[in-house]
Order: sequence, then structure tokens, then C-alpha cells
Amino acid sequence: MSTQSQLRVGMVGYAFMGSAHSQAWRTVNRVFDLPLHARMTAVCGRDEANVAAAAARLGWEQHTTDWRALVSRDDIDLIDICTPGDSHAEIAIAALAAGKHVLCEKPLANTIDEARQMAAAAERGAAAGVRSMCGFNYRRVPAVALMRRMVADGRIGDIRHVRAVYLQDWITDPQFPLVWRLQKDKAGSGALGDIGAHIIDLTQFVTGQRITGVTALTETFVKERPLPQASSGLSAAAGDGNGTVTTGQVTVDDAALFLARLDGGAIATYEATRFATGRKNGLRVEINGSLGSIAFDFERMNELEFYDATEPSTEQGFTTILVTEPDHPYLSAWWPPGHGIGYEHSFTHQARDLIEAIATGADPAPSFTDALQVQLVLDAVLRSAGHGSGWTDVEPIFAEVAA
Ligand SMILES: NC(=O)c1ccc[n+]([C@@H]2O[C@H](COP(=O)([O-])OP(=O)(O)OC[C@H]3O[C@@H](n4cnc5c(N)ncnc54)[C@H](O)[C@@H]3O)[C@@H](O)[C@H]2O)c1
Repeated sequence: MSTQSQLRVGMVGYAFMGSAHSQAWRTVNRVFDLPLHARMTAVCGRDEANVAAAAARLGWEQHTTDWRALVSRDDIDLIDICTPGDSHAEIAIAALAAGKHVLCEKPLANTIDEARQMAAAAERGAAAGVRSMCGFNYRRVPAVALMRRMVADGRIGDIRHVRAVYLQDWITDPQFPLVWRLQKDKAGSGALGDIGAHIIDLTQFVTGQRITGVTALTETFVKERPLPQASSGLSAAAGDGNGTVTTGQVTVDDAALFLARLDGGAIATYEATRFATGRKNGLRVEINGSLGSIAFDFERMNELEFYDATEPSTEQGFTTILVTEPDHPYLSAWWPPGHGIGYEHSFTHQARDLIEAIATGADPAPSFTDALQVQLVLDAVLRSAGHGSGWTDVEPIFAEVAA
């Protein structure tokens, strides 16, 4: 196969998201008929033995321990960033400057300043034909894409209410160690940036409206935790492995709640927490409009609830749409109707959309500028929570982007 028809990928980070993205790169051309073929050229991590093992396990041709070397290679077309937020800006800006397309995991960055610099670098890249996308993968769940289509088609009329929660419980135990997600310098914020960012993006994507202001509160229930043996993502053991346990401060929020106004007139509530005992990945969004309602629950990700208030009152009621038909978004490439899909498919769809955009010379969504806007909402939430929950406008996006 000629290199013109290939998209040679270099991925940085190989744990949770690295595995999910690898699955996507492995499957995308086997499922979708695309103008470019993703080639898993090299994966990067910090530890030689571990990254070598990850390359073999996940299907990468080569491995390296130096992301700077990776982004400057001539045989790489796209850099896929699957590291914690503290390295997103540096890697993405270097990759864009080297003329590589970039896929960067969410949240885009740890600070607004970094996010603005990344958006500016992406704008410069786009002018030179280099594409960038932020990994808000839940947009690519077929039921969510259908939800957006139905809202855009006017099926629920004018939007009045948006109600979004993202509920997890993995740090309820106060002895759960201080992993990187609980450290502000690594993660930027806690439940807010990690899972709150997803429901901000998802609701704005589905409604086509943007959050303009918030009143918020955050809480850190467990303020000190044992240090982990080795910092990792969603699981880790406490202590140094020899029975000695030292502790450190939790520097991010455990939970974040906020009310918001959207620019199309809707009002909204958001809740993101890692302390919702029993809720594992409870991402739920309900939207109420003048003509009906529509609701999605990730734990039933192949379904969409729809209430049509224009039906005769004798026949009204919530309908469960089984989102597995070939006419539903993304699904013509998969299985016969009724044969559901899973979490990993959202990443395959993300890879598909990115490859299509690169091949056709279009700017993919969500762009870094879209992700900067999410970052501005996160910032407004933290500012409001830091000032007695006072009403706080979201900073405008375009003032400083075009550097
Ligand atoms: N889209 C989603 O649904 C979703 C889900 C989970 C995480 N994420 C995001 O993905 C990113 C990574 O999260 P994760 O859960 O995969 O974390 P993780 O801890 O499982 O993996 C992080 C990886 O990055 C590597 N790494 C860290 N710093 C590095 C550096 N400086 N250079 C090279 N490698 C480095 C680690 O070795 C590890 O392989 C974060 O931005 C997170 O918010 C997104």
C-alpha cells in the first residue's frame, strides 16, 4: 500500500485511553470503507520495558520512550495524545508545529491559558492543512448522534430544560490512593474536568446551544489519601509495597454541581461526582422541549427514550428506541438490527470521523476551539464555586484565540 493512502499514527500513552484508541485504530478500516488506511506505526511511553510490552499487546509496529522524537519523525502523519492533561499542551503544540494531525484526549488542557495556546496552534495548523480534534468520544455513541439529529429536526421543539449527570463511585473508599486524577497539577480539576467535561460537551453538541453562565459548587469529601505505589488511572494500590503508607493532599474536587444558562434560552443542571455509590459510569442526559422530551443513559447505550407530546393524549408515553438500525448513525457498518454495540465503538467512530475529515480536507469536530470553549465553562464553574457560588459568565471564546 502506498504511503499516500496511509495515515501513519504515533500514539503517546498506552493505558486506559491508549488501549481504547488502539482498539479503534485496529478496527476502523476493517469496519468502515475509508479513503485512508490507519497504520499503527509507533507508541510512546516513559518506561522501555512497559511500552515494549504495550506495543506487542496492542498491535503497534514500533515503540519509543521519547515523545519529542516521535513527533519529529517523517514517517508519522498523526499524533494521538492519550496522556494525563499536564502533557497535552506541550505534545499537541509540538506535533502541530511539526505538521502532524493531532487527536488529543479530553479535557483539552489543564488551564485556559494552555487551551488557548492549543486552539491558536490548531488554527495555524488548519491554515496549513493540518487537522486537530479533541476526544469527546460520547458524541460518537449512535444513540447520542441520533439524539442530536432528532433535536435538530425539531422533534422536541424549543428546548426548555437540560438535565445532565455523570455519576461514578470509584473513590468512595477514603483509603483509595492519591492517583494522578486527584492531583491538580496533573489533572487540572477533579470530577469536573474528567467527567463533567463530557456532559458539558455532550449537551452542547446535542442541543446546538452553548453555556453562557453558571452558578456552581464543588466539594472535596476526602481531603487526604494514601500515596499510591505507582500513579495510575482508575485503579492503584496504596503504599510503597513494603507496608509503609504515607499520605498526600487531594487538590481537586470530588464532586461538582452547577446550574447554567444556554444561549438558545434553555436552562440546565449538571452534576459530576465520583461519590455516587453504586453508579459506575452513569452518564445521563434528559432534554425537555415544547413538543416533547428525549433522554439518554450510557448504561443503556443502545437505547434512546423519546416522548412525543404531539401524539394524541390517549397514546402519549415515553418510547424506547432501540438504536441498532442501519439508518441510525454509524450503524450500517456493524451488525444486524438488535445486535447492540459497546463503549469501544465510540472510539472507532471517532477514528472514522477523523480519518474522513483528514482525507477530505475538512476540519473535524470537536475542534480545539470547541474544546477550549468547554475549558472556559470548566473555568467559570471553578470561579463560581470559589466565590460563594455567585453567578459567573463564561469567558468569550474568540477574543484571544486568533493569535
Ligand atoms: N474519552 C474518555 O472517555 C476518557 C476516559 C478516560 C480518560 N480520558 C482522558 O484520557 C487521558 C489519559 O487518561 P487515562 O485514563 O488513559 O490515563 P492512564 O493513567 O490510564 O494512562 C496514562 C498514560 O499516559 C502515560 N504518560 C503519562 N505521562 C506521560 C508523558 N509525559 N509522556 C509519555 N507518556 C506519559 C502513562 O504512562 C500512561 O500510559 C486524560 O486526558 C483523560 O482525561 C478520556
